[in-house]
Amino acid sequence: MANPKIKSSIIPYCEQHVMSTQPIYNFSAGPAVLPEAVLRTAQHEMLDYNGTGFPVMAMSHRSDMFMSILHHAEQDLRQLLNIPNNYKVLFLQGGATTQFNMTAMNLAHGFKSIDAVITGNWSRLAAEQMPLLGNAKVNIAAHGGELFDYKDLPAVEDWNISKDSAFVHFAINETVNGLQYQDVPKLSDSMPPLVCDMSSEILSREFNVADYGLIYAGAQKNIGPAGVTVVIIRDDLLDRCPKNIPSVFNYRTHIEKDGMYNTPSTYPIYMSGLVFRWLQTQGGVQAIEAVNNLKAKTLYDAIDGSGGFYINPIAVSARSKMNVVFKTDSAKLDKLFVQEADLRGLRLLKGYKTVGGMRASIYNAMPLAGVEALVEFMQDFQRRYG
Ligand SMILES: Cc1ncc(COP(=O)(O)O)c(C=O)c1O
Repeated sequence: MANPKIKSSIIPYCEQHVMSTQPIYNFSAGPAVLPEAVLRTAQHEMLDYNGTGFPVMAMSHRSDMFMSILHHAEQDLRQLLNIPNNYKVLFLQGGATTQFNMTAMNLAHGFKSIDAVITGNWSRLAAEQMPLLGNAKVNIAAHGGELFDYKDLPAVEDWNISKDSAFVHFAINETVNGLQYQDVPKLSDSMPPLVCDMSSEILSREFNVADYGLIYAGAQKNIGPAGVTVVIIRDDLLDRCPKNIPSVFNYRTHIEKDGMYNTPSTYPIYMSGLVFRWLQTQGGVQAIEAVNNLKAKTLYDAIDGSGGFYINPIAVSARSKMNVVFKTDSAKLDKLFVQEADLRGLRLLKGYKTVGGMRASIYNAMPLAGVEALVEFMQDFQRRYG
């Protein structure tokens, strides 16, 4: 039987989409906006990839055609992030959530503890999952704000790390709560390796891969569609991967089988490769970082310049440039804001259920024009209801 809830939410969207000539800006936190040029290339190549006569979706993952797609995706990612040769790159399935457990299963074997920094929804979930398999306990090395209210970030100097822990885990950008470390954290060489959830900020700004032991990122924000997770791991850490964990959860298995231990997520990898190439045409990470800085400044200036009508509750030094959370002083007005914005083509601005208010996710593929359209609407809304 059809679900009436789903029907009613889909039909108005499609009708508006067909009838409207105004641009649609997608502020979803993920799966999120993709560059239009990428979607057009994918459309063009849908039935026949590069003259092969094959749709990418129907290629064997072991065919030369797909192996070439995978190879180029990896090379382009390496170029964009300047990944050193002693780091391996994997395109895995299971989302960033699977990495909460895989990191612990692979890197904490034989260790008594893992240090976890908790600064929001995702790093909290990771810290809860990490001790479930294996003997390592999780120490909370630092947490964000008073009573875990996630309004500020603990300084790296204040992380309480034990030198003999397996690794230190943190999320550099908290998608739900709208916090981001503005200076990319790093630890001294005598400290355990840093393991970082970069799901909602990878490729948005420059950083030094060599400061990390392992980086993981679900694709569906700055990389491509959902269904693939990038893992970048320093090769000496592979020695830690134990033999007695299931092969599919073992990083070493995937490396030894060149990413072909089981069927990889072929189409999302192809799409991610297109996004990497698009980013290269934009001038790479350094160039997109400048645009991202401008977009974030434009939006925070609008919030701060609203005389308190719009509020961003995050400490200024911890504000995310990817996920901007804001609200008015009334939940009713917030609801109306989201509804009216939707009619103006400013879509999916509703805040996460535990946070409420609004959240504008302004990843790499969101053009400055989208942020400017949002700011114009915010000012108009304030004139009418402020
Ligand atoms: C920072 C962060 N970590 C982890 C996740 C979980 O990702 P997935 O749903 O792909 O497992 C998300 C999802 O939004 C996220 O934003």
